[in-house]
Amino acid sequence: AQTEPEIRKGLVGVVADATAISKVNPESNSLLYRGYPVQELAARCSFEEVAYLLWHGELPTPEQLSSLEAAGRGQRALADNVRAAVDLVPTTAHPMDVLRTAVSVIGAADPAAEDSSPQANLDKSVRLLSQIPAVVAYDQRRRRGQELVPPREDLGYVENFLHMTFGEVPDAVVVDAFRVSLILYAEHSFNASTFTARVITSTLADLYSAVVGAIGALKGPLHGGANEAVMHVFEEIGDAEKAEAWLEQALADKRKIMGFGHRVYKHGDSRVPTMKAALDTLVEHYDRPDLAALYDNLEAAMTSRKSILPNLDYPSGPAYHLMGFDTATFTPLFVAARVTGWTAHIMEQLADNALIRPLSAYDGPPERHL
Ligand code: SDX
Repeated sequence: AQTEPEIRKGLVGVVADATAISKVNPESNSLLYRGYPVQELAARCSFEEVAYLLWHGELPTPEQLSSLEAAGRGQRALADNVRAAVDLVPTTAHPMDVLRTAVSVIGAADPAAEDSSPQANLDKSVRLLSQIPAVVAYDQRRRRGQELVPPREDLGYVENFLHMTFGEVPDAVVVDAFRVSLILYAEHSFNASTFTARVITSTLADLYSAVVGAIGALKGPLHGGANEAVMHVFEEIGDAEKAEAWLEQALADKRKIMGFGHRVYKHGDSRVPTMKAALDTLVEHYDRPDLAALYDNLEAAMTSRKSILPNLDYPSGPAYHLMGFDTATFTPLFVAARVTGWTAHIMEQLADNALIRPLSAYDGPPERHL
């Protein structure tokens, strides 16, 4: 008798390829970017340095960093055609749909879009890194009825992103929490959106097509959409005292609790302590002990009932809320960070490509005839 093929639903436990970009170790709750613990990078590096590390495999020298920064600074403005494309999308659409459309237009307008040489793909990665903040900032502003804020070349990436969004550079504590969140979100091995980017790249489609597909994969609430969903949960609960009863009911209704659980980490997400510390600084800065109490009560209720621990989206959601971002903008912020990891994986996939094409087992009707 023929043996049935083994099906790993959701590819659980399947090792699909090797990568030199990051190592997620669920046993030790650790995450390394190119060998460096992410906590050390978050403590010591700028976001641009981490982007360089992910792309090139080594941290930049001061000269290499200045040249990356100079290349990025010149491309921060929202191009007219991209602005026109954003304006065509109704504000009833989700900001992830706007960003997906904008990246598609950025790609379609790039005369070098089909050039997949390493240098051309690096140039495209820097372009996306610089232009995504312009799209995200402008989209939030137009939804609020505010005017576009042009970029400032004298600012670093993180400060400029906040300046273009809010029209001012906030206090250092806010800038720093935002920088930390972007570094923590930058890369995480073969998550669903990165794998999507690698699948698209494996057909030899261009880098922009792979990033557009990755944005689509990140949108869902089981993946990047969870940071937004966490804030909706907080709003639904409303008050720290109600967290336990709310959770009881949500679990009875078989709801998935957003911001908890992870496919790979079963003893906790390596990034949570660093992001929680950043959230704590914001709670103090904005004097919001009520938000911290809700956070703590929901986590305590969840871990005592289910032993399911928070993932990075749990502290990131309320942190972005305190910084002043609209809830629907949270997942686009994840894109702004993760585009570094996606593009690193796209370049790695291309360097040693094999078409990604798994098999399926057939369970439809047996052969039949008309
Ligand atoms: C990200 O992969 C990455 O690296 C992703 C990411 C990255 O940086 O790229 O880390 C970013 O996507 C974080 C995850 C964000 N998603 C959420 O916060 C949504 C809520 N979480 C889940 O739905 C869930 O935990 C997943 C989707 C994250 C993981 O799901 P799995 O691995 O498919 O596990 P599962 O759904 O099969 O859960 C196993 C059990 C089930 O119970 P039983 O059926 O065995 O009784 O745990 C339960 C689940 O019901 N469970 C939850 C739960 N998470 C798991 N129950 C309630 N609430 C939850 N959040």
